[in-house]
Amino acid sequence: MTASKPCRTVVLLSGSGTTLQNLIDRMERSELPIEIVRVISSRQDAYGIERARRHGIPTQVIARKDFETWETFNKALSQAVDAEDPDLICFAGFMSLFRPDKKYYGRIMNIHPALIPAFCGKGMFGHHVHEAVLEAGVKITGCTVHFVDENYDTGPIILQKAVEVYDDDTPDSLADRVQATEREAYPEAIRLFAEGRLHLDGRRVKIIAPTC
Ligand code: GAR
Repeated sequence: MTASKPCRTVVLLSGSGTTLQNLIDRMERSELPIEIVRVISSRQDAYGIERARRHGIPTQVIARKDFETWETFNKALSQAVDAEDPDLICFAGFMSLFRPDKKYYGRIMNIHPALIPAFCGKGMFGHHVHEAVLEAGVKITGCTVHFVDENYDTGPIILQKAVEVYDDDTPDSLADRVQATEREAYPEAIRLFAEGRLHLDGRRVKIIAPTC
């Protein structure tokens, strides 16, 4: 992976695909040194699949409900990812548990709409997160980009961006502001990865200064 060779990226999603759209738009504007080589959805009806098709990106549906066990689902997903031999795997609103081969450790990222380790884990996704944030009455939330390990939202943290919670916020208004920060944070983390500037040291991700 060099500046002249884009980072081969597989995107996994389950929903509307606004996260994917942001990555596609930036890739097409040459703001992100990646090539999205495949989009895999865990749901047949995910609109993200349609977004990928519109941009000529190969798509595949591997739906959890089509597999009797999580193990066989995980195996099918692993094979589909392996077939692309990607440099990077990005979860973009991917709501199933995926445990890929250890060789991908440090090469799989997720974006979560809260400041991990708060408001995360199984069942904490999308609007559930913003509802829980408002219910808890915290004053600051945000988004987190992290490397994926074998559990939900527990991998090493790459970047976080904070968002103030207002007294009159609703889950929708809060989601809008958090997603605005996600649209900056995810490309930033991916760019750092593609530039080889993320150094994994145990649970800590250190950002290496650019060489010039
Ligand atoms: C994003 O806000 C993302 O942070 C969140 O789901 C949304 C996906 O939107 N991810 C999680 O909650 C993961 N735990 P999209 O389907 O429009 O990209």
